[in-house]
Amino acid sequence: MSSGTKKTEAEIAILKEGGAILAKILKQLVAYAGPGISTEDIDDRAIQLAEEYGVEPVLLGYHPNFADQPYPAALCTSINNVVQHGVPRSDEVLRDGDILNLDMTIGHKGLIVDSGLTVPVGTIDAESQRLIDVTREARALGIKEARPGNYTGDIGHAIETFVHKHGFSVVEALCGHGVGYAVHEDPMIPNVGKPGTGVKIEVGHVFAIEPIVNIGDKDVIFDDEGDGYSVYTADGSRSAHFEHTVAVTKNGPVILTTEK
Ligand code: MF3
Ligand code: CO
Ligand code: CO
Repeated sequence: MSSGTKKTEAEIAILKEGGAILAKILKQLVAYAGPGISTEDIDDRAIQLAEEYGVEPVLLGYHPNFADQPYPAALCTSINNVVQHGVPRSDEVLRDGDILNLDMTIGHKGLIVDSGLTVPVGTIDAESQRLIDVTREARALGIKEARPGNYTGDIGHAIETFVHKHGFSVVEALCGHGVGYAVHEDPMIPNVGKPGTGVKIEVGHVFAIEPIVNIGDKDVIFDDEGDGYSVYTADGSRSAHFEHTVAVTKNGPVILTTEK
């Protein structure tokens, strides 16, 4: 694995613009999602918003190396026990008590940012809320480690330690990644790891940091027979995911996928 490309300050400024737009889009999608809305409705809205903001919905037609077919939608919508890469469908309707992960990647002025979050649909049970809170905080702790001189293993270690302290498990079959020139770039950013191992983090690195946390066991099932994308928890327990695109600067990590 290569240690990945470094982006210039000018490129990071563009990524920040794109990241602010993606944050606005996700915020509007969260406001739109609710009981009775289908995941395809959310995808249609995402495409509409991308057009309004003049950004590219780059997942639409993206062909990751793990899949047989190009991805058919602008975002991934993963509900409850769907861990990642849920494909929006007209016959999949949100219900009160669900948890929904929205994950979208956009291109702006030729550069790519990636972000996602898990939100309650209506009123959710306390354990699901705790899962969401722990996963969001795990992302924050992972991001803190994205500074020059640290290693990618420091990010994974911070995430893993926090999640385990709270009694949940970290999915190891999927991980974060470099991003900017492509949807997925080197290096991989595992959500588990040992301090001081992996790739050395340098100024100009841009990473998608994205812990994926299960209430139950960490094992997952890839739905190769079904839509070719959805990943499920093996034990049927619920899963959450939070993702930001982060630039490494000499002063430390800067989150790019926020409104400000
Ligand atoms: N946004 C996803 C990520 O965080 C990419 C999904 S690839 C897809 O890496 F093809 F499944 F959409
Ligand atoms: Co993503
Ligand atoms: Co990502």
